[in-house]
Amino acid sequence: MIEMKDELTLGKLSQTYRVLFTGFMLVIGLGLCMAGAQIMLTHGMADGKVGLSMNDIVYSYYGNRSGSKMESSLTGKMKDKAPEEVKFIMIQWVRDEAPAAEWEKVGPLFEKHCANCHDSESGLPEVAKLEVAKSLAEVDHGASIASLTRVSHIHLFGISFIFLFVGWIFGMAEFNQTWKLILISTPFAFLVLDVASWWLTKFWPGCAWITMIGGLGYSLAAVVMFATSFAQMWLPRWTKK
Ligand code: HEC
Repeated sequence: MIEMKDELTLGKLSQTYRVLFTGFMLVIGLGLCMAGAQIMLTHGMADGKVGLSMNDIVYSYYGNRSGSKMESSLTGKMKDKAPEEVKFIMIQWVRDEAPAAEWEKVGPLFEKHCANCHDSESGLPEVAKLEVAKSLAEVDHGASIASLTRVSHIHLFGISFIFLFVGWIFGMAEFNQTWKLILISTPFAFLVLDVASWWLTKFWPGCAWITMIGGLGYSLAAVVMFATSFAQMWLPRWTKK
């Protein structure tokens, strides 16, 4: 085994690299916070309530198979957008499997109560169009295989790069060697677990708790690695030796 006497530690780095690594970690840290906020705003609201819950994860991946997206919106996020009796007619139409023959009756209701927001400029689904309303009236099966494949590979590639560099920097910290190895490998293990849990939840909603744990695992490892690296790059205890 090769003994490294003068191992390069974070405290011994030149100012150039400390500034570079600090800049990188600050921006990545901000990015991770934004990712967390985005999860709260998209998945977190899937059940119509603020905050990430097990139901949100089940709805996002497995879907809400007790009803369609249209119905769950009309009784959830969109419930204040039309009077009770209008929503009743809309929900009836949805439950009747969205018959085109009745569109002349319900179409104008969508036009009147929904189209001012759900127009072509908003990026929201144009619910006053028959084919759009029809597809939203289908039972919600959650994330499609196509979208899961896309998000999975972006996630695996992107996040492993982030933690390659974060781990590289943290690898130069003075730290208990066993814990160092655990902390460096944790994000990769949890990354795979996290992505696997989406697929598992897609087919077995009981697996949603794994998704919760997955995100928690690499957030924790990241916080320890970030805090340690910043401290050892800038606090005199490590830099003055
Ligand atoms: C004041 C603006 C506004 C009005 C009026 C409105 N919506 Fe929405 N709707 C939104 C916004 C914004 C979202 C996206 C919210 C989100 O995802 O958190 C949305 C989301 C939805 C979704 C979910 C779309 C998806 O793909 O996830 C459905 C379905 C929906 N609305 C149906 C309706 C219906 C039906 C009406 C009429 C009764 C209506 N909305 C009226 C603003 C509006």
